[in-house]
Formats: sequence, structure tokens, C-alpha cells
Amino acid sequence: MARTESRILGIWDGHDSGACIVDKGRICVAVNEERFTRRKLEIGFPKNSILYCLKAMASRPDDIQDIAYSTRDFSLTLTRLVPKIKENYYYVRRRIRKARFENINRRILNHTGKFRANIMFRKISHYKIKDALRKMGFKNFRLYDIDHHKAHAACAYFPSGIKKAVVFTIDGIGDGYSSTVSIGEKDEITELIRTKSKDSLGLFFQEVTSLLGMRILEDEGKVMSLADYSPHIPIQLNPMARFFRLEEGRIKSTMPLERRFRTLQALLYSCNKETFCRMAQDALEHHCINLAKYWIKETGIHNAVFSGGIASNIKHNMKVVSKSDIRKWFIFPHMGDGGLAVGAALFVSNKIYGGRSKMIKSLSLGPEYSNELILTELRNNKKINFVYDDNASRYAADAILDGDIVYWFSGRMEYGPRALGNRSIIALPDNLTTKNRLNNIIKRRDWFQPFCPAILEDDANKMLEAYTQDSGFMTLGYMTKDSARDYLKGVTSVDGSCRPQIVNNNNSPYKGILKRVRKVTGYGAILNTSFNIHGEPIVMSPKDAIDTLIRTGKGKLVMGNYIVESRQK
Ligand SMILES: [Fe+2]
Repeated sequence: MARTESRILGIWDGHDSGACIVDKGRICVAVNEERFTRRKLEIGFPKNSILYCLKAMASRPDDIQDIAYSTRDFSLTLTRLVPKIKENYYYVRRRIRKARFENINRRILNHTGKFRANIMFRKISHYKIKDALRKMGFKNFRLYDIDHHKAHAACAYFPSGIKKAVVFTIDGIGDGYSSTVSIGEKDEITELIRTKSKDSLGLFFQEVTSLLGMRILEDEGKVMSLADYSPHIPIQLNPMARFFRLEEGRIKSTMPLERRFRTLQALLYSCNKETFCRMAQDALEHHCINLAKYWIKETGIHNAVFSGGIASNIKHNMKVVSKSDIRKWFIFPHMGDGGLAVGAALFVSNKIYGGRSKMIKSLSLGPEYSNELILTELRNNKKINFVYDDNASRYAADAILDGDIVYWFSGRMEYGPRALGNRSIIALPDNLTTKNRLNNIIKRRDWFQPFCPAILEDDANKMLEAYTQDSGFMTLGYMTKDSARDYLKGVTSVDGSCRPQIVNNNNSPYKGILKRVRKVTGYGAILNTSFNIHGEPIVMSPKDAIDTLIRTGKGKLVMGNYIVESRQK
């Protein structure tokens, strides 16, 4: 096969590693390594992801001429040189193994985060990545290293479909910086400012997460959810709000990291956890709203796009969008570092081929399995019963209307952290008994973590306050309307908000479920949560799905056109 010159392979080999192939700005295929290795938020080199991307595009390593990766700061470069460090950090971060010398480790991490990409780190990173790719059969390729925040900005702006926007990237630390503000216009991103690592809002939120005994880079959403159980504190009385200030459009830390950490320790000792979370969430929202307001006013551009780990905080997104005079918005759905492979590839695609990326309309970018492949896997397993059904949507809708929990497996796996109806567990949102059963036997979420709804776009106005537009990728929170509160009680937070998936793609089997549920209940809404057991990655293959069904012993699996039940109940 001739070289497919316009195809760019994007790779990311840090936290939540993965790969993608972009062709002239179109994201053709994208996946994260955790789905193959079954280690949540995998950090190893994304070999399986790369192989899958090549296979899905009927390409060989030889066909790829341009490869992009991101981030070449001190920390990542060191772990490329000594992978064992990354492996140890993975176990410590996930709280599988206790860190020795925790305080010293934290100080080292805070210190090393400052070191930006220099010529030596770039050369070492380049050499190590090139070496790993050559071992996989790639040769004669051009390798591009893309700045961490430029990759985040690329995936926020290029696939947004918005012509002119302020581009915000806010995260922990990457390449020595914690945030950037740019303008995206006429297919170009022009950076206005960047903020140093010591001024990182992401790092502050990580500290809060860690002090609560939760996993950093993973459980920040729990902090956001627990905050709902505490009343708001006036911002002038919130001690955490004083950790930062806005100075000429830049977030600035007001104290050294170590002093802030000790202050947080003292605060946690003196108040309950809910209040501690409330203070952190309010402080984060306050400063990000001020940042957005400043740049919207300064640039006169009322559209904004977001990427970086902070954009995974849907309450923050809801507040920033609603309080900053933003008219059009887009949040890249794989906003954390797991999306950097796409960001790096889109950046390079824009530089080489120019032009905008195609607006992203679907995240169905992962592996797909035909009925034949599903049947082969089903026949290999003696612990299940299965039957063929012509109308899987109708079966699934009727099952959840009967109070069942359905494991729904359909089409290509979604890219990113959210299940959007291809690898989802679904149930009725008004049945609290089913919701509790789902939590007890499968999800094991903390008591304060709400489930989420999927809502038909036609019904969004009926159920959500101030609904105007949505990308359909579950990136923004909404307040539910009083009239729908009873039906949505299993998917609404204590403060009345929810994080809905707005279902707007036509004729998908998933949409068929929602339509049938609407006929009976009057509401086009169901409970949708990711198809995985607590702490594990979302299922990818029929084998993963069957394993999950057998291990939980509950629920009905609807996979392609097959209805599957475990024999062990
Ligand atoms: Fe990042």
C-alpha cells in the first residue's frame, strides 16, 4: 500500500496514555491504552492503542509519515528514561501502594513541575519515543513534539466548530505551565498568556483531593460532588479563595506551595469534609469565572472553548459558561491528558495541511465488534445463556421499564471518560431501588456521587433549566426543572443539578431506547452510567462485557443483537 501521507499518528505516553489517527483534521480513530491493558488510566507506552489505530485504518507502520506526541518536561522525560519511576508512581497515585517519604515526594514533585522543556529534555524524549516507535516497525517518519498546552488548545479549538473563540487550557502542570489563554481565529491559535506551574489551580485541587484520602488525577469529581452537601460560604469568608488572585488576566498564587499545603491541612482539621470540598470548589469556580470574564471583556469575543483537567469539573463548566457572558462554548470531551494524542495530531495536521479540523460530532472512535465476532465470544463461554433478538433497542427499553438493569453494548467504543450509549449501563431514573441495587452490586460509588441521565434533545428544554445548546458529550452541568425533578430523582444531585448526556444523533439504537421509554413514561430520559465495575476501565470487547456480567451476576447484557444472562445468579 502506498503511504497515506495525510494521516498523522498522535501518541500520548503519560497519564491515561493513548493514540489516534487524524486525517486532514478529521479524527478517524482514537483510543486509550487502559481499555486494552485493563489498568485504569494506564501510564505505559500506548503500543496496543497504536496497533489498534493502524488496524482500524488498514495501515501499516510504513504507511505513516508524520507522528506527533506531546510534553517533554523534566518529569515525563525522566520517566521515559526510567519507566520504573512511572510504574511506581502509578501504584502510589492510585493508592494501591503506600508512598514512602510522602512529604519529600510531594516536595520533589512540586519542584520538578517547574522544569520546562529545554533542548536536553527534548532530545532525550525524542530519542526514547523514536526508539519505541522503531521497535514497532515505524521507519522514515517525521516526529513532532508538541507543547503540552498547545496540544490541549488544539483539541479545544480545532474540532469545536466555532470560528472565533477564546481558548482556555487549565490543568495541573504540563511542560512547566498550568494554564494558557489564546484566541482561536481563522484556523490559527494565537497564545496571549501562560501561567507558571506554581500558580496552578489544578495542583491546588489535587492537593485537596489527596488530603481527603482520595486519588489525585482520578477522584477530583468526588470533591466536586461532596461539595454539594455543604452550603455556600461567602467568597470573602472562604480562606481557600485567598490562595489565588487575578493579576492582569493571569491566575497568581498568593503563597508558596508548602505553606498552602500546611494551611489546607489545618483547614481540614478544623472543618468537616463537605465544607472543605465546598471551599475548594467555590474557590476554583470564583477564580475561573473571573479569568473567563476578564478575557471575554478584553478580547470582545463571546465564544469560549476549554480543555485541560479542570474542564472535567462539570460544575465549574456550568458556572463559568453561565456567569461569564459566554454565548457559544465547546469543551473537548477528553479534556484531561488522556486527550493529548488527539491534541498533538490536530496541531500538526493544522500546521502541515492548514485549514480547520472537522467539527467533532461523534466520539464513536474506538473498536467495533460485529454480531459474528460477538457470537464467537458467546459460544466460547459456558457460564451464560444467550438468544438472538431482532430489535435490541425494544428489548432493552422494555427491560428497564420492568425495573431491570441493562448492560448495553453497541457499535464503536466511545473515546474519552464518558459512556455515551455504546458501552453504558442503563436503568430508569426514577426507580431508587434499582439505582441502589446498581450501586451496591456494580458501581460501588460513594454515597454522595450521583448517577447521570441521558436525555433526548427534543426533551431537554422540558427537563433542564436554561438549556440552549449542547455538544452531546456530557461536559456541562444543568439544573433540573422542578416539574421533572421527581422523574429524574435517581440522577439529580442534592443541589438539583445533573450532568446529562443530550442524545441528538439520529436513528441510533440507543436513541431508540429513549424514544420507547418516552412513550411509556412521558419523559425521554434514562439513567446512563459507564459499563464497568468500580475502579476498572470501561469495557471494550465482548469478552470484557461477558466477564463483567459474570462477575456481577446481575443485569441483562444486550450486546449487538444478542441478549445475554449469567447462569450464576
Ligand atoms: Fe494537561
